[in-house]
Amino acid sequence: MPTSPQSPHLPFGDNIHTPWYGKDILSVKQFDRKDLDYIFGVAHEMHGMVDRIGTFDLLKGKILANLFYEPSTRTSSSFHAAMERLGGSVIPINNVKFSSVSKGESLADTVRSLECYSDVIVLRHPEMGSAKIAAAAASKPILNAGDGVGEHPTQALLDLFTIFSELGEGEIDGLTVTMLGDLKYGRTVHSLARLLTLYDVKLNYVSPDILKMPAEVMEDVAEKGIPQAEYASLEEILPETDVLYVTRIQKERFENPADYKKVADEFIIDPEMMQLAKEQMIIMHPLPRVNEITTDVDSDPRAAYFRQMEYGLYVRMALLAMVLGKA
Ligand code: NCD
Repeated sequence: MPTSPQSPHLPFGDNIHTPWYGKDILSVKQFDRKDLDYIFGVAHEMHGMVDRIGTFDLLKGKILANLFYEPSTRTSSSFHAAMERLGGSVIPINNVKFSSVSKGESLADTVRSLECYSDVIVLRHPEMGSAKIAAAAASKPILNAGDGVGEHPTQALLDLFTIFSELGEGEIDGLTVTMLGDLKYGRTVHSLARLLTLYDVKLNYVSPDILKMPAEVMEDVAEKGIPQAEYASLEEILPETDVLYVTRIQKERFENPADYKKVADEFIIDPEMMQLAKEQMIIMHPLPRVNEITTDVDSDPRAAYFRQMEYGLYVRMALLAMVLGKA
């Protein structure tokens, strides 16, 4: 929630007139194309600064509370690294078992407490809608780092920045993006499909029958007039794909573990499959990967998933600087 300019608690020296000052980032629905140009511009600057000087003092004295109720490697450490690269510091809460959450504290009370010690809160939580609840309770910015099977907006921003950077600025219009894997429980594809509707793209969905893209996401995409189609096999759609976005089957979200076993290895990308793909295609994956891309694909120049993680650092630096009034 934005801090009111009249607030007696307004931190000294913040530029409250920057457009993103004090804002939450909860859903990709809050962005338009102009916002993305702005974010990517700042992310690009951050990349240059990291290359040139590594760490600098843009957010000196600022504190991030990194509150993770679900496992995370990349999202938590990239936000942590982003804050440190900007000269700020971090309260990492990666294991809520050791916090008052295990004593039964509500999410609202936890964020209200953490904002007394910090300037911004990054939250990952297993329930859809939790980021919104936290934002209603807090007066400092909340950045949604994944709310159950809901959204993962900062991941979608870094995904789009990856496409932007890998395939060339302005080239998103006209692309065919194929999403593969667990489209039902994968929050990254829910956010990315919605964000891509800001561009003139074509979306293909390939998944096991029980893991199709949810109707509400498909309705949002249809409402924007973006063509989308579902396929049961990757082979028929791979030759025309520009971006192949692969996801892990979200084992932990299955009600019945036997169902997971049935679909676990239904789609696997290997060098043989890659022969069907365009020379200029990129393969992305939010990671972690399980079996869905074989490791011998990693050396293929089209494998962009590790580069994608690096782009994430610059996007998260940009977002932190923006909501703290420094960009
Ligand atoms: C994803 C997530 O947590 O939704 N990971 C990530 O943030 N990079 C994808 C996943 O867990 O499969």
